[in-house]
This record gives sequence, structure tokens and C-alpha cells, in this order.
Amino acid sequence: MLTDELRQTLIQTAIETRRWAYAPYSNYLVGAALLTSSGRIYDGINVESAAYSTTICAERVAVFKAVSEGEREFQAIAVVTENGGSPCGSCRQVLAEFGLDLLILIADIDGNLREEISLADLLPNAFTPKSLDR
Ligand code: THU
Repeated sequence: MLTDELRQTLIQTAIETRRWAYAPYSNYLVGAALLTSSGRIYDGINVESAAYSTTICAERVAVFKAVSEGEREFQAIAVVTENGGSPCGSCRQVLAEFGLDLLILIADIDGNLREEISLADLLPNAFTPKSLDR
């Protein structure tokens, strides 16, 4: 169970890190903050590319930073945008790799929590590592 204090910490971390978003093409800045089961927080921002399709989202940057530091268990992720946008399909899939119990906090830049939803609800009938069992 996530405490209100942790919720606020995650949202504030995502708001603060969003300043580093590199989004000169869309001007849509995204900040994310991923909480591990061990209590560490990894932040991430979107990094766009002139080749457009090689852009990477804030959520995936946070996940890849964490996994590259040896983390594999996650409790929650906060995603902050100016209008409370929801994680894209590619990010949902990458997050699903590490468990569908993940809590997703969708917030805006004023710190308002717009939605709190589990990954299981955000990505129903997910293809997960178990799907490869034969
Ligand atoms: N973006 C994210 O960072 N996360 C999402 O879940 C949705 C989209 C970024 C990608 C791109 O840099 C910009 O937002 C507009 O799509």
C-alpha cells in the first residue's frame, strides 16, 4: 500500500525532473518517477529525436535506468504532463515486463493526481513473460 507521503514524493519528483525533458519537436514535456520495492526512486524524462521515431518516453527512461542499476521490482510510477496524459502503449508493455500490480499515478504539473490505476487495469490481457511458457 502506498502512503500519501510517498504518493506526493513521487509526483513532486516527476514534476521536478520534467524540467530536463528534451522535447523540441512536440513541446510536450513528460516527467516520471518510478518507485522500487526497496524504496528507491528512479526518475525519467522524454528524449526526442530529429528522426522522430527514435524518441523515447519518460516512463521507459525511468524503467531502463532502474533495471540497468539492478532493480527489477517496482511498486509505483508517477507520470506528470501538463494535461494529465496517460502512459502510451509501448510504455505500458515495457512496464508489464516487471509485474501488473504496479500502481500508476497520473498527475498534472500542478501536482493534481488525475488518476490512480493499476497496470493490470491499464493493460488488460497483457502479454507478459508468462505468455512465453509452452
Ligand atoms: N511521451 C512520454 O514521454 N510518455 C508517454 O507515455 C506518452 C508520450 C512523450 C513522447 C514524445 O516525446 C511526447 O511525449 C509526445 O508524444
